[in-house]
Amino acid sequence: MKVLVTYYTQTGNTGKVAKAVYEAVNVQKEILPVSEVKALAGYDLVFCGFPVQAHSVPGKMAEFIKTLPKGQKVAFFATHGSLRGGQLPRQAFESAASLAANLKVLGQFGCRGKVDPKVIDALMKKPEHKVWAEEARGADGNPDAADLKEAAEFVQAMVGKAY
Ligand SMILES: Cc1cc2nc3c(=O)[nH]c(=O)nc-3n(C[C@H](O)[C@H](O)[C@H](O)COP(=O)(O)O)c2cc1C
Repeated sequence: MKVLVTYYTQTGNTGKVAKAVYEAVNVQKEILPVSEVKALAGYDLVFCGFPVQAHSVPGKMAEFIKTLPKGQKVAFFATHGSLRGGQLPRQAFESAASLAANLKVLGQFGCRGKVDPKVIDALMKKPEHKVWAEEARGADGNPDAADLKEAAEFVQAMVGKAY
């Protein structure tokens, strides 16, 4: 069993979760920022991590997902400013799933990720960002230790499923 953990991170939150994901993998593994992935063959499972941006998957990760070989087993993880379990993060996972129509999606994990208050203030003025930006004010301690622990549990479940 060989696992790739790849991620895109703009401000470090998803990178932090990616590291916890990588550390929790107990088989042969690699971790690479999405811009550095070259060969895609030979992975039994690929974890793809991204920050939710504008309710969706950032372009760099979206492009990568489209290059994965047909039938590839994947698991998604994301960080987002909005509340967990709500419609906003769900929308981004639905976008990821639609990009992965030819892949085998084993599961997904999301947790909150802090947003710079100055960025929130700026984005609150834009109607398309107002709703999540308002929610993001409560994410200033995330991802936290509990988030990283849950991420590790998610990894165990996904690796189990990939066998
Ligand atoms: C330009 C921009 C757009 C964002 N859009 C959303 C969004 O639509 N929904 C959401 O919940 N969070 C949104 N966020 C918050 C990020 O998803 C969150 O802070 C995430 O943890 C950032 O991850 P990173 O540090 O790995 O880049 C946005 C942040 C930025 C800067």
